[in-house]
Amino acid sequence: MNVLVIGSGGREHALAWKIKQSPRLTNLFIAPGNGGTKDLGTNISLDINDASQIMQAVDEHKIDLLVFGPEEPLVRGVVDKIKTDPAYSNLLIVGPSATGAQLEGSKQFAKDFMEKYGIPTGKAKVFNKQNLEQGLQFISDQKPPFVLKADGLAAGKGVLITEDADEAKENLKDLILGKKFGAASANVLVEEFLDGIELSVFVVTDGKDYKILPEAKDYKRIGENDTGLNTGGMGAISPVIFADDTFMQKVEERVIKPTVDGIAKEGMDYHGFIFFGLIKVGDEPYVIEYNVRMGDPETEVVIPRLKSDLIDLLEATANSTLDQVELSIDPDTATTVMMVAGGYPEKYEKGHTIQVDPSLKDSIVFHAGTAFKNGDIVTNGGRVMAITGLGKDLETALSKSYDGVSRVKWEGKNFRKDIGFDLKALGQ
Ligand code: AMP
Ligand code: GLY
Repeated sequence: MNVLVIGSGGREHALAWKIKQSPRLTNLFIAPGNGGTKDLGTNISLDINDASQIMQAVDEHKIDLLVFGPEEPLVRGVVDKIKTDPAYSNLLIVGPSATGAQLEGSKQFAKDFMEKYGIPTGKAKVFNKQNLEQGLQFISDQKPPFVLKADGLAAGKGVLITEDADEAKENLKDLILGKKFGAASANVLVEEFLDGIELSVFVVTDGKDYKILPEAKDYKRIGENDTGLNTGGMGAISPVIFADDTFMQKVEERVIKPTVDGIAKEGMDYHGFIFFGLIKVGDEPYVIEYNVRMGDPETEVVIPRLKSDLIDLLEATANSTLDQVELSIDPDTATTVMMVAGGYPEKYEKGHTIQVDPSLKDSIVFHAGTAFKNGDIVTNGGRVMAITGLGKDLETALSKSYDGVSRVKWEGKNFRKDIGFDLKALGQ
């Protein structure tokens, strides 16, 4: 089978790494890929939001299975464009249609969907230019903290939380009138603050059945002890001690099943991943957000724990045979530590040469923002490499991740030294 993975991050490197292990693979392509994926297959340079360029690559390389990593092409309807062309009716595609992708593309759409299907989530009201005054009054009537969310895609920066009512009101004006995220913040949700501990749960679904992948916890802040600015994610752990059987059963019954049933009832064409951003309030799960893709860096701990063949799983997702799949999961712990460019998530430099010491053997290096230039691997983004360790417990896995981190060097490298600190405090 010939496989094309769309995307260029650590998530796509981890997916490609696992696909490469399948005996069913003939040729692997990654578009556009990064400095790490080039060692697993062929990187193809193309615009991932342009369906015609993807279709051309599918033709040229006789692709059988097309796997989307990031959300943007999905929200823009790239899958719909490919599926409406009869020439691609045999192509297996992992990635939802634009309607399904609205679960991530519009927080208002997702909130309405959750309310309709009784899925636990924070209460929210939507405001825009027409009812801004009501929005400001609404904030005055609420208790802090105030959670404001831009409706549309805002590169992970669309959520603003503050204790101060005046600041929340300024934020609301800035989002709507100041068009902070352009059209994405024309509508803004003011949401109930949920106080608890976060985790991410992942499934693949074919729109009627689903399979649950290992859960994970990520570390979003740049600084130790979860301080400083938000990032795309500085590390991740799987499994998560507080996601015990009782809690995961609640997640399945109250969140996963009604979501997949809702997708079926709405008649959405959905073949792909669902990432449930959850918060555990007391013992109860609430949905903070849906994503229509895997998480990054969560994929770098979820995928190494998957023992089953990934091509089998993705094929069943695409051709609606997930009911026939049994998943096998490694009980070991996986940890990943994201190495980032100095200055990230603010201004940072690109183009520094990276040296990976050949003595690095006990961990897996997943490239994120890297490129291959003039024979060197160089930094090419804020999040540069994720170093994954696997072990019988959290401590063993972390020591492998950090040993790997110490063997990777470039000018200005930065990373968090305390990934997993909160789970250790809980006894993991
Ligand atoms: P998101 O961009 O939707 O992932 O949200 C970013 C972060 O904001 C989440 O990871 C949470 O830490 C926080 N957050 C979002 N919604 C809420 C909420 N209703 N209550 C508390 N924290 C929230
Ligand atoms: N790590 C969070 C995300 O992928 O959205």
